[in-house]
Order: sequence, then structure tokens, then C-alpha cells
Amino acid sequence: MKETQHKHLWWQEGIIYQIYPRSFQDSDNDGIGDLPGIIQRLDYLQSLGITAIWLSPIFPSPMADFGYDISDYCGIHPLFGSMEDFDELLREVHERGMKLILDLVPNHTSSEHPWFLESKSSRTSPKRDWYIWKDAQPDGSAPNNWLAMFGGSAWEWDEETQQYYYHAFLKEQPDLNWRNPEVQEAMLNVMRFWLDKGVDGFRVDVMWHMIKDSQFRDNPVNPNYREHQATYERLIPAYSTDQPEVHDIVRSMRQVLDAYDERMMIGEIYLPIDKLMTYYGTDSKEAHLPFNFLLLSIDWDAGKLASEINQYEGALPAGGWPNWVLGNHDQPRITSRVGQSQARVAAMLLLTLRGTPTIYYGDEIGMRDVPIPPDEVQDPQGLNMPGLNLSRDPQRTPMQWNAGENAGFSTERPWLRLPDFYKRQNVEAQQEDEFGMLTLYSKLIRLRQQEPALHVGEYKPVVTKSPLLGYLRVSGDTRFLVLLNLSHKPCYFTPDHFTFEGTIALNTIPEREGTSVKDQVYLSGDEGMVIRLKNS
Ligand code: GLC
Ligand code: MG
Repeated sequence: MKETQHKHLWWQEGIIYQIYPRSFQDSDNDGIGDLPGIIQRLDYLQSLGITAIWLSPIFPSPMADFGYDISDYCGIHPLFGSMEDFDELLREVHERGMKLILDLVPNHTSSEHPWFLESKSSRTSPKRDWYIWKDAQPDGSAPNNWLAMFGGSAWEWDEETQQYYYHAFLKEQPDLNWRNPEVQEAMLNVMRFWLDKGVDGFRVDVMWHMIKDSQFRDNPVNPNYREHQATYERLIPAYSTDQPEVHDIVRSMRQVLDAYDERMMIGEIYLPIDKLMTYYGTDSKEAHLPFNFLLLSIDWDAGKLASEINQYEGALPAGGWPNWVLGNHDQPRITSRVGQSQARVAAMLLLTLRGTPTIYYGDEIGMRDVPIPPDEVQDPQGLNMPGLNLSRDPQRTPMQWNAGENAGFSTERPWLRLPDFYKRQNVEAQQEDEFGMLTLYSKLIRLRQQEPALHVGEYKPVVTKSPLLGYLRVSGDTRFLVLLNLSHKPCYFTPDHFTFEGTIALNTIPEREGTSVKDQVYLSGDEGMVIRLKNS
């Protein structure tokens, strides 16, 4: 892909870091992270080289889905602090030259949001049509077969007004009716509220869910469903998600952003590459970054990775900027998926691919999914579908800062437990360790941010044999060759189609840094390297 000549924007050149606020740093010792806690840790993020922070929801919420059920879009949940704390956080972030991205949850509200309470109050309520209400079928059953992501039917019966309402997630998260212009205006005003405060962008929750089929047709049965999967997977959500009209909505959100200076929008979208690309919009007038979740689910295999990366690069529309993600609060952590030594290779991949990387908090110290005993499970996805290992608690545990009490997260018992080995695995310990994950992340970030070839340069695939993945990053005369061994066994890189000479700038095995290489390289198992090529 060609390096574009024009100036790159902060969200193209930079590195995003996702904070799950409940678990980052507790300042008032209630066992739950909060905004003043985040402020205390900004210097850490700045010294790591992070340029933008995305916060999972911090708004008033009954916490049925840990903040993704919002009861007031323009407030701060007292657990996290006050609006003054938020203003201070924003100021402190900006003073450090960083940006702040908030989570916007436009698809659904909390069932305790005043809009829903009003909507639910009677069939003639002026806000009745703000949500999706439908009559029962003649036999009393739900309007159609749609299923909720968190188990069971997506329709909840309301005894009082004798209709069903639709909820794609929990029944405590009724879906808004985005076909109603008043709903559209209300949510665009929420965006304006935060943009006026100076927030730099939004990560838009479940963007592909926002509009449903106007005829509410039944979803087709998924012939590939297996019993170990979530019940939601029984059907193919052909009519409940990714409807053509969603693009008009995303476009109108983009227009709001474009009335301000350099604000941006990331869309949470779990769709195949061809569908994902449509969320950039024709003329790139929709999401700046439709989240690219390829690396979250792909088999850790060099051939598959190479082919998916190249497909993604190739499918980008003109002007569409790529992005990459290894983990988030909904997915198992990378270390738990590929193991600790491959997680180092994964870090190198994330931070040397072309496009904006988003780092999930704690991945920079190799945090693993923490086993949570059954009686401590809190995530509704885990509670509603027990036995399927679907709880997201393991990837949401407190940040491991030091070897002290509760890992320096809180003086009180944290809302989720820490792993037994946090005394060995924490930020403070790794700051001293030149072979640790944190050092690798910080070197990768530094190199990436210093080198235009890495943060904005071209990406060129290099033909390699499994288990090796290789590519070039190029800007002007500067060229880096990235070689990643995706296996535990040694392998050789002996290309017959080109010659090269250079020096290893960065290696997952730091002892190899500074070594010269020419025309062929041998790699240990789990070794990844970034080679600065000599100009011939
Ligand atoms: C998104 C969030 C997830 C939440 C869901 C419902 O997928 O990332 O955490 O449960 O939306 O809001
Ligand atoms: Mg607290």
C-alpha cells in the first residue's frame, strides 16, 4: 500500500491505549478504579509513549453490564468520580500532549434511563417510539426469533403495556429506535456535549447493531452452530444487524465530528473484511477507524495471518486508514490465547504493522486471563450462560502495578481478584527487567514513533514459508524488514527472490539486537525481529 504524501493526523500516527476504568487504579479505596486513579497513572502512560487513551464507559449506570447500560449520557458515575474529576482528567491528558477518546453507547440505554422509563410508561407516551416496541404474535409469543447476545430471546414482555421491547443484549439494555429522528438528534447532541468539552473522539459501541430490518424478518438458522457456542450463535443475525440504513446514521455522526477540529470515531464492528470496509463509507465519510478485530480470532498460523493481513490491506478503500487490535475487555487476553512467548511476537506484530494500534491495558506487562471462582463471577455473559466459559471477568482484572498489597491497585479488596503471581508480574518489577514484556513494548513503541517507515510508511508483504511471517515497512530511503517466527521451533529465512543486508534494530531476544545480517537469517522459536536494511 502506498505511503500517502499528505500530513498524517494524530489518530493515524499515534498509539491508542484502552483503559477499563473499573480496573486501572483505585484512588478512594473502594476496590474499584476511578478517574482520579487514572490521573495518577498518566505519567506512566506518557512515558510508555502512548498518545491517546480510550476509556470504557464512565457514565451513570446501574452496572448491569458494567457501564454499557447508561442511565445518563452526560454525567459521570459517582463510583468513578465527578464531572470536575473528568474535566481535570481531560486537562491533564491534554497537558501531556495526549488525546482522550470516550465510549459512546448509542445502540441501547439502561432500562433505568429516563427515556426508557417514559417510553415504558404507556403506549401513548411521547417517547414510546424511542425504543422498539412490538405486539406479541397471536399465540402470545415474541414478535420474531431474534436472540440476545447474552442469552435467551431478544424480546422482553412488558406486562403493564402488553407489548414486547427489543434488547440485543440484556433486558436491562433496551435498544433505541434509530429510525426515529428525535433519537438521532438526542444522541448527536450527546456527542456535541462531550466534543464541546474538548474530548477528541469516540469509540462507538456495537455500531453494526444500530439499525434493524424494517420488517423484522426472522433470522436464518446457523447450520454451523455448535453446542459449546453462545446461544446467540444459533442464528445468523442477517436482519438484526448490519442493515444498509446504518450507514446514514454513521454518516450523520461523522458530520457532527467534522464540525470540530480533528476529532475522530472508531466503530466497534465484528464483521468479515468486506462488510467491515463499508463502514469507512463511500468517500471515507463514515467511521475513521472501523475496528479491525482480525487478530482477535485468527488461528495463530503464519500462512493464515499473512493471507488475512494482505486481504485486509488490499480491501481498504482509498483514503481508508488501517488499524490493529490484539485484545479488549470482551476478548481473552493475547497472552492467554497464544502463550507468553508468542505474546512477545504478537506485540511486535501489533506495533510494526501499518495502521493505528490499540493496546489493551495490562497487555504491555503480559497480563493473563485470571481464573475467577464461580461464586465470584460478575459478568452477565458468564452468569447467563454458565458452563460455556464465556465470562469476560478474567480479562478485566485489576492492573498489576507493583508487588504491594493488591498489586498497588487499591488498599481494599478489588472488585475482581488478582492472579496469585502478581508479585512477580507487575509494572514495577518489569521496569527493572530489560528482558521483560514492558521493556519490549516500550522499545517497540519508541522505535515505531521515531521512524516514519513504521508509523506511516508503506507495507509490503514478503513471501515467507510457514512458520515465518514477514513484511517490509518503507518510507523514502528507510526500510525495515520484520520477521516473526510464529512457532516454538527454530526456522530459517533464506529468500531466493531478493538479497538484503542490515542490522537487527529490535528483537524479542534482546541479546540479538545490533547484530548484522545478510541474505539469510536463522530465528529461534518465538523469535521476532525488526531489521533495519542497508541501502544498496
Ligand atoms: C460492546 C461492549 C461490551 C458490551 C456490549 C453491550 O460489545 O464492548 O462490553 O457488553 O457492547 O453494550
Ligand atoms: Mg475507587
